[in-house]
Amino acid sequence: MRYIVHVRQFNVIGLICQVFSVISGHRYISQAAAKIDVDFDYDGPLMKTEVPGPRSRELMKKLNGIQNAEAVHFFCNYEESRGNYLVDVDGNRMLDLYSQISSIPIGYSHPSLIKLLQQPQNLSTFINRPALGILPPENFTEKLKESLLSVAPKGLSQVMTMSCGSCSNENAFKAIFMWYRNKERGHNNVTKEELESCMINQPPGCPDYAMLSFMGGFHGRTLGCLATTHSKAIHKLDIPSLDWPIAPFPRLKYPLEDFVKENQQEEARCLEEVEDLIVKYRKKKKIVAGIIVEPIQSEGGDNHASDDFFRKLRDIARKHGCAFLVDEVQTGGGCTGKFWAHEHWGLDDPADVVTFSKKMMTGGFFHKEEFRPNAPYRIFNTWLGDPSKNLMLAEVIKVIKTEDLLNNATHAGKALLTGLLDLQARYPHLISRVRGRGTFCSFDTPNDATRNKLITIARNKGVVLGGCGDRSIRFRPTLIFKDHHAHLFLNIFSDILANFK
Ligand SMILES: Cc1ncc(COP(=O)(O)O)c(C=O)c1O
Repeated sequence: MRYIVHVRQFNVIGLICQVFSVISGHRYISQAAAKIDVDFDYDGPLMKTEVPGPRSRELMKKLNGIQNAEAVHFFCNYEESRGNYLVDVDGNRMLDLYSQISSIPIGYSHPSLIKLLQQPQNLSTFINRPALGILPPENFTEKLKESLLSVAPKGLSQVMTMSCGSCSNENAFKAIFMWYRNKERGHNNVTKEELESCMINQPPGCPDYAMLSFMGGFHGRTLGCLATTHSKAIHKLDIPSLDWPIAPFPRLKYPLEDFVKENQQEEARCLEEVEDLIVKYRKKKKIVAGIIVEPIQSEGGDNHASDDFFRKLRDIARKHGCAFLVDEVQTGGGCTGKFWAHEHWGLDDPADVVTFSKKMMTGGFFHKEEFRPNAPYRIFNTWLGDPSKNLMLAEVIKVIKTEDLLNNATHAGKALLTGLLDLQARYPHLISRVRGRGTFCSFDTPNDATRNKLITIARNKGVVLGGCGDRSIRFRPTLIFKDHHAHLFLNIFSDILANFK
């Protein structure tokens, strides 16, 4: 088959780099070079031009003529991209550790997904996109059970599908506000005044409820979500927003084992502030109906907190009658070594609502039964996701289970983290605060300029990395990222650090 031919291509540049780095003594010491263990992966990066190359630059210019395309890194050739490798339009093949902002679960062009698409009985699911809320296909419930519900977080029996992460959070907020109002209303009926006032954006029909969020958090760019997003000013500038409480998120000191007491105090300070804000806002007649939090603040700089912090936060939510919403849009799907990152916390009472997207192929949210809307069309949009994505997700979950990819994330993550810690010890002026769970790893650089330079150099050496926060580099590989990919990266990056000026 065609992809086999590409896999067998001789990686001259990779070989030269390896020989050079061994001679120059820069090689990341302990590990073997890359090998192929999946039949659709390439054997290493292969670079022909700098990135973006001439063809990418030409296409960027064209696109920029019809929209602001300044965010485009380069144009891709998805036909040629395989496994952990992204190929660009100039023929450069790069080890992709960013995987489309963390959204490719089992690599590019996975044979199982290709097979799924080739099955004639699946064709109509891809061709006819339904308005799922009113006209679902016959197998819709069965596919939801086979896909999303088969991996539902403990205690959450209900699921709604959506099209993206922001859309999922936005609708989760609505479900929480409706739940809160229903609690307050008790057995009373909706009043005429509520029905009339909501039409002009006024209470009591539009109650003064709020979602509490954290500084550094990112929950999307739509209007409601943006009120809970506090990662970068560029996302928020010029957009009117809501007076909702924003709590500090712990800023942990590393290495964690050297700062146990300081970090405990920092977490206690943040939790105290959460409670104070809930009380303060209530005094202003603004009720905190829910708390939203990411298990690891991702866009905001890969900020971690301890499992204990989250357990206590869950308790605070319960104590004050607030819904507890865990945003697993970036952390969900297995990259931390558990299907949901919040499973690491060991909650005795599950989260009330969990949102997802990215690696889950479809957006949406799981929730407890009490968060079901009490009437149709209250949580609704035209598509409500896309059944073709549920079909693909069912296959992705099958691959995750049969190939034991959660354990793989733990294992490969350990190889990556160990290597990063070693590099941190050797280049402390360039790398600090190495942290991670599974393959969801990151480190800090001294500043924004150094971070961006490292990302650019790595890309030209055949490794795609992502930035987050103001000076962090984050790893978001696919679930088929193995130990040998980690060592391949560490070898390349070790050389980059040794030669960095
Ligand atoms: C934690 C989190 N929530 C929400 C979103 C928004 O998702 P989307 O970009 O699909 O709207 C993101 C996107 O990066 C995210 O990381």
